[in-house]
This record gives sequence, C-alpha cells and structure tokens, in this order.
Amino acid sequence: MIHINEALQQFHLSNGQISYIFHVMKNGQLGHLYAGKALRHREDFTYFQSYENPAPSTTHVFEKDHSFSLETVRQEFPVHGKGDFREAASIIVDEQGEFVSDFVFDSFEVIKGKPKLKGLPATFAEKEKVDTLKITLVDRESSVVADLTYSIFTDLPVLTRSVKVSNNGHQPAKIERLMSTTLDLPDADYEMLHLSGAWGRERHVKVRKLEQGIQSIGSLRGASSHQHNPFLVLQREDTTEHQGEAFGWQLVYSGNFLAQAEVDHYETTRVSMGIQPTGFQWLLQPGESFQAPESVLSYTNEGLNGLSQSLHDLQRKHLINPSWMEKERPVLINNWEATYFDFNEEKLDEFVTEASKLGVELFVLDDGWFGNRNDDTTSLGDWFVDESKLPRGIGELSKSVKAKGLQFGLWFEPEMISPESNLIKKHPDWVIGSLKRANTFGRNQRVLDFANPEVVSYLYERMSSIIEEADLDYIKWDMNRYITEPYAASVENQGEFFHRYITGVYELYDRLTSNYPNVLFESCAGGGGRFDLGMMYYAPQAWTSDDTDAAERLKIQYGTSLGYPLSSMGSHVSAVPNHQTLRSTPLKFRGDVAYFGTFGYELDPSQLQEEEKEEVKDQIRFFTKHRSLIQQGDFYRLKSPFRGLATAWMVVSEDKTKALVGWYQPMNQPNPSAHRILKLKGLNEGFEYKVNGRNNHFGDELMERGLTLPTEFNGANPGAERGGAFQSLVYELERNKAKKMND
Ligand code: GLA
Repeated sequence: MIHINEALQQFHLSNGQISYIFHVMKNGQLGHLYAGKALRHREDFTYFQSYENPAPSTTHVFEKDHSFSLETVRQEFPVHGKGDFREAASIIVDEQGEFVSDFVFDSFEVIKGKPKLKGLPATFAEKEKVDTLKITLVDRESSVVADLTYSIFTDLPVLTRSVKVSNNGHQPAKIERLMSTTLDLPDADYEMLHLSGAWGRERHVKVRKLEQGIQSIGSLRGASSHQHNPFLVLQREDTTEHQGEAFGWQLVYSGNFLAQAEVDHYETTRVSMGIQPTGFQWLLQPGESFQAPESVLSYTNEGLNGLSQSLHDLQRKHLINPSWMEKERPVLINNWEATYFDFNEEKLDEFVTEASKLGVELFVLDDGWFGNRNDDTTSLGDWFVDESKLPRGIGELSKSVKAKGLQFGLWFEPEMISPESNLIKKHPDWVIGSLKRANTFGRNQRVLDFANPEVVSYLYERMSSIIEEADLDYIKWDMNRYITEPYAASVENQGEFFHRYITGVYELYDRLTSNYPNVLFESCAGGGGRFDLGMMYYAPQAWTSDDTDAAERLKIQYGTSLGYPLSSMGSHVSAVPNHQTLRSTPLKFRGDVAYFGTFGYELDPSQLQEEEKEEVKDQIRFFTKHRSLIQQGDFYRLKSPFRGLATAWMVVSEDKTKALVGWYQPMNQPNPSAHRILKLKGLNEGFEYKVNGRNNHFGDELMERGLTLPTEFNGANPGAERGGAFQSLVYELERNKAKKMND
C-alpha cells in the first residue's frame, strides 16, 4: 500500500480506495501532492506541484530561488516564519525565543502494522490490515526531530496521521503549537460541515461556505465539549447524503482541540486539526519527546453517507475495545430521571422487579449511591456506599439485582470532587484551581488533578474495589463540569496541564478496561460533552445527550451519526412530560427514535400503566430481535430534521437481507403535500423484500420508486392512516428468500 520512489523522494499511500501523495521539495521540506480518490501509481507525480512557473507570483521567494516560495506551495508539515503566512503545523521556540524552524526530510521507515501511541488512544488493526509510513524530519539548527506517521488501512478509505516531536539537541525547546494533521487542498470550493450546539442540543449539523480567512471550531473547556465536536467535513457544494465528494477529519482526543480551514488569498485551503494551541505549551528538555494525538482522514465520493459509513466501520473494527466489537449491548434502565437522588433499597427493589418483568437486561444505578449525596452539592470523591440509602451495601444490592436476572451497573464521576467531601479534607492539594484568585464552580463542584498520578491511583483503587464488591457489569463515567482556573500543583509547566489532565483520564480508563475487560463503559459528560474517539477507544458507548425528548433526539442522533455509529449512541425512552422540554410525545414515537442506538429506558417502570407495560415489552422484543442489525449494519440518513418536517433513516445488514427504516414527523401541517414516497438506499436491487412481513417489493422498486407512506390526515379525509403530531413508522424489511428477480 506504500509506494516509494527513493530517487525522486516521493511517497504514495494507496489502498485502491484513496491515494495520499507527498514528496520532498527542493528546500528539503515535505510538499503535499494529492489526497483523494485512489490514483493508479506512476513513477513520478512531480507535475502535481510545478515549480517552473510559480503561479500566482509571490515576492517571498525561498533563498533567492524565484521559482520557489513557501507562500504558494502545498505542504505536509508547514512551519511558521519561513515565508508561508498561513497557520503552521508546529511552532517550536528555542531558548533565545526564536520560533522559526525548518523541518527537512531526514529518513523514512515502512512498518507493517501500526505501532501504538504511547499514553494515547488510537486506532489499531492486525498487521495484515494496516501499513505505516514513518517520515523523520529534522530541524538541523536545533536538532529537534519530528516523526510523522501515516497509517493506511486495507479495508477502508481512511488514513491516520500523528506526529511525535523529540528534542535531540542540547537546549530546551518549547512546543507552542503542534497540529496532528494539516492538509493543503488546491482549491477552496468547499462547504465546511461541523457538529456544534450546547448542552441538551449537542451535535446539530452546521454548514457554511468556505471563505478567505480562517473558519474554525474548537474547545478551551478541558473536554472536547457540547459546543463543538472534534469532527470536521469539507464537502463540495453539490455533495448530498448520497453522492459527491467529501473529506472528513476526526481527532482521537477528548481534551482541548482546534479544527480549522484556512483559505488563503490564492483560494487554496489548509485544514489543520490538533491540540488547541491556546493555553498549551510543552517544555521539551534535551532527550524528551512529545506525542500528539492521532487524527483520522477519510475521503469519499459517495456523499456524506459514504463518509459516515467508513468512519463507523473504522470505529467499530479498529477503535473500540475488542471485547465489545461483536458483543450485543444490553437493554438498560437507568434510575436518574425516575428518582434523581431520592431512592432507597425498597424503592430500587420495586424498580428492578418491574424492570425485570419488562425484559430489561441491565439496571444502572445513577448518581446518589455514595457519600451523603442527596443533592449535587456534596460527596463527589467519597466513593463509599451511602448506608443510609443502601444499608446492606452495594454488594448485596448487586446480588439482589442479579437474582432478578438483570446485570448491574453504577454511575461514577471520578474526575470530580465536592467542596463538601471527606476527600477534599484529606487531600486539599488534589484539587485544580488558582492559589491566588477566587475559583469558579460548575454544578457546585471542583475538578480533581488528574495530572497527578497519585490521584489516578487513588481513583483506580476506589473504583476497582467497588467493581469487585458489586461484580459490576457496566459503568457510566460522567464528567459534569468544564475546567476553569487550570492550575495544578503537580504540574511544573502549567501550559502542559490540560494535556496531562486528559492523559491522566486515559490512564485510569486504561487500567480499568485492561483489568476489567468485561465491564461495559459508557462515557458521559453532562450528556454528550465528551463524545469523541478518545473516549470511544475505552468506552464503546456514550450518553448522547441529557436531552431525552424524542423530537429533539432526532436532530441530535442525526447529527451524531455523521461521525459516529449507532452502536456508540446511548438512546433511551424517557417519561413524559419530558424532563428537558416538558413536551409529551407518544411512547411509540419515543421508542421508534430510541431504537436507533444502544437502547434503554430512563423512567420508573412502576409508574407505567398496564398497556404501557405491554408496549414496553413489545419494544424490547422488537429491539432485541433487530439488535445486531442496528449495531453492526450500514446506516443511511434519508431525510434531515434540519431541512424539513420529516426525518428518515435506515440501517441495512451487511449481506443486505435485512433492513429497518425509521420515518418520523414531529409536527404535522394542514393540507400537506401529496408526496408520500420515501426512497430507500443500500438494498440489493435484485432481492425481493417483505415489508413488515407482508408486501413484497424488489430492492430496485424500493430504492428507485420508493416506499409508499400511509395517507396523512389533511383536514378532510377522516379515513387517513396517520395524523397528528409525533408520527413515526418503523418498517422491517426482510429478504423473501423464496424469490429472486428473474425467477
Ligand atoms: C449528568 C448526566 C445525567 C446524570 C446526572 C447525574 O447530568 O448526564 O445522565 O447521570 O449527571 O448527576
């Protein structure tokens, strides 16, 4: 997959789906030649970057060579201060304060497989499924070395990149900026798509046209954040869900990040993604190295669905904990919205008894089981059972849950500490915060110094002892506030704090998941405030949003699916009126939305009416019947909630014999359009499908002509098959094995 022309110093990575080509330029730095659809290999791609007639012209030529200027060439690892006025991949400051570097090619190495990134989550694959090219660049003046690694997978149009900077010189060096990836594209005819929002409305789809200047998203919050997601797409103006070109980037990182597209005065585009430079500064003493997180680049010419499917496959096959790649995720019930902090053993016993009758598989006891926590002002850090609520202890509670046939899971918020807690009395120095200024609170709590290995070890000891005592099957790991006054006593150079914090979080995750591989972790940060590939490496599912309103969830789940698979999205049916919007929607609507994720409930089953209980049983039966299709199938978005009244999506099994189609219309309108057809995708044209066990249609009919939706009430037809707000339909398609086209 890696072609190297040593004489011309050209590198072509290709797997038949994508090509990525670069070379050593005449000044010794790396020049970018091409990224996109796979190209046939040829010996010489030099003409992709012509020096002869630098067009357009520039006055800032390289060392008097009028045919060459860094201002106009496309590069792989652009530096600051050498004639390229766009933002650089790296800025490294020497002892005298000079921040110009000149990284030139030194050597390369081809590696079968993909080496791990020390201390950081990253994608992986068996040796035969991925090849890695390591390019070593050196700044000869300072002897600082940059190792760029590129890995290409055999089975996906995906290339990952990362960079490690090592100080091989004799003076300290400070990294002020280090992007995990940059890509210089030859034009700017793109729209930038990103997933942005806020608490309760995470990952809404935003699209804007690229213009000259920098358009960026990022986080300064100590977490990837609700506001912006470390995911960026550049798509052509005519790209749709089903056709057209798009590049997608993701960062395997959960801390402060930056993702940006810079369009210069010659209408070329530089995309950069990496650790957020604001507030970041890493001191490298002679002999030390810094590893930047991994970035993922995917290319498609099959529209956004094509892009998403590659990313979903990458995450499901090459990122999540292998123990959960094939395993079906349990249908869970969580007591948070049902009880909040107000529960005791009897209440939970009734809750679990009712849940077990409904067919629920896992009970998750949320916040409030530890310390003395009856509201959110106290006890974080005191991970000892609250005996006033659970006098027989957590082990006994777990036993009684398991005796009822359910698995048992618990909520933790390991990174936090309450000002009212025993832990803070014992270890005031374990808390992050300014020593001189007043500190800001978030949800009445402070943040523990995860940059301090002692803190991480303490939490490991506490959590593992509870995992063992309660024989836990599942942990919901929450993080409910952002980081302010980022000062930690354990850190020498405070510019390193944010990164050291998140690698401390990874360290705890790593120890727990390695020692308890069968515990399913679900990450959470006030809902979806840390929905990223860094977290997903350890926790294969994430609580998508605290907003469980099904109408709102259409947008959140639709947006999230752009970058992340259904198997990663915690999606639950909750009680009505909904706790976030006070909106009441039918149980059917709530279920039909929640099926497309890791399904569960967020309500008190003992409060359900008899007929609702029957409906819930049916929902669980329906979901478990289709669970592997939902978790492993190819997902297609059909209609966007950001564009019209209806939302639709579907999931198709790999062998195309089964599919589920979800159609939703939260609000109806009088005298609606006569258009009642939904065109499906991804089926086999020649297979005949039974739709809801009845009508037979060939795949081509369903995709080209479409599925007929039932008639809608229009103010005059009382016989209409549907009407009113919150309509939803889920169609089951199954191949009618008896028949094939032309039979
Ligand atoms: C966060 C989570 C909720 C719940 C509460 C408990 O808000 O997102 O699901 O666990 O914390 O305090």
